[in-house]
Amino acid sequence: MTATEVEIVEVGPRDGLQNIAKFIPTEVKIDLIRRIADAGFTRMELGSFVSPKAIPQMQDMEAVMAGLPPMPTVAGMTLVPNAKGARRAVAAGVKNLIFVLSVSEAHNQSNVRRSTEASIADFKAMLEEIDPLNELTIRVGLATCFHCPFDGVTDEGQVMAMLEKIIPLREGMDYAISDTTGMATPAHVKSLTKRCIDTFGGSARFGFHGHDTAGFGIANVLAAMDSGIRSFDTSVAGLGGCPFAPGATGNIPSEDVVYLFQRLGVTTGIDLEKLLDAGTMILAESGSPMASHARAIPRARLFADLLGIPPSQAVAA
Ligand code: COA
Ligand code: ZN
Repeated sequence: MTATEVEIVEVGPRDGLQNIAKFIPTEVKIDLIRRIADAGFTRMELGSFVSPKAIPQMQDMEAVMAGLPPMPTVAGMTLVPNAKGARRAVAAGVKNLIFVLSVSEAHNQSNVRRSTEASIADFKAMLEEIDPLNELTIRVGLATCFHCPFDGVTDEGQVMAMLEKIIPLREGMDYAISDTTGMATPAHVKSLTKRCIDTFGGSARFGFHGHDTAGFGIANVLAAMDSGIRSFDTSVAGLGGCPFAPGATGNIPSEDVVYLFQRLGVTTGIDLEKLLDAGTMILAESGSPMASHARAIPRARLFADLLGIPPSQAVAA
């Protein structure tokens, strides 16, 4: 591994909260976003402008956006599934959109209730309507790149064929290659991410978006890193999951990925202590049982190891 710097994209306020049944009050969502920004993340998902019937948790997105403090160092992204969502996002002042579509037909139908072909056509029309002058930042959240909850393992050729259709729609987009169900193996992650970079790396940027259902999350981050991926989506306290992908559990915990890179001497720009505090807050507010390995390590030991001193000399937080 030769990289000295990686980007960690915090997805907790969107992917993390969307799978929590209990409604999280608007001011708590705002507090979470504020804490994450304060921990040093420069790109994060703020939420999604989706149908409130599909995801009731996201029904207050306009109020969340209106209540956010200025965050000049953060690119705040919101997920949109259709033109209606994109119009709402732009009206709320969002400058960075994530358009979600799935490689597998069955998951696309379950998630956004249309075929992949219809989603691609919607995406093209949406770009022309919402951003004719190419002023917004657009990310594609490409779901079920490795595994579909209904159809099983996704063929790599299918992912390549999908990218071939969407990359020409607009220059400068980046792509979150997503393990929506958290079932991908490291070998599969390494192989597909390498193929994405080898085939399209000249015209597209790729990040890895993983879930930890099978417990391969950290191994998958390192596998993607081996292929040349330098941007990783993670969620505070391991919250997360798509309500339309049965059996999928949380995202790879941000704390674990930050801690891993710190131990490996790779710069993330994230303050682990502030991140842990943000997680403590949202776990208490949501009642979620999710956690992370780093969270289970006594803080004195966690920070002593990072400082290279015995835990007895570190001040327990
Ligand atoms: N925001 C708010 N409301 C929306 C909306 C949006 N982005 N898109 C559609 N709606 C509303 C419509 O206005 C309509 O309202 P009405 O019943 O009061 O008239 C209703 O939702 C149905 O609209 P329709 O276009 O028929 O949508 P649908 O029922 O086929 O649902 C989606 C399609 C894409 C809107 C819905 O499945 C969705 O929001 N999915 C998001 C899934 C998601 O976020 N998954 C997790 C991320 S991977
Ligand atoms: Zn996800």
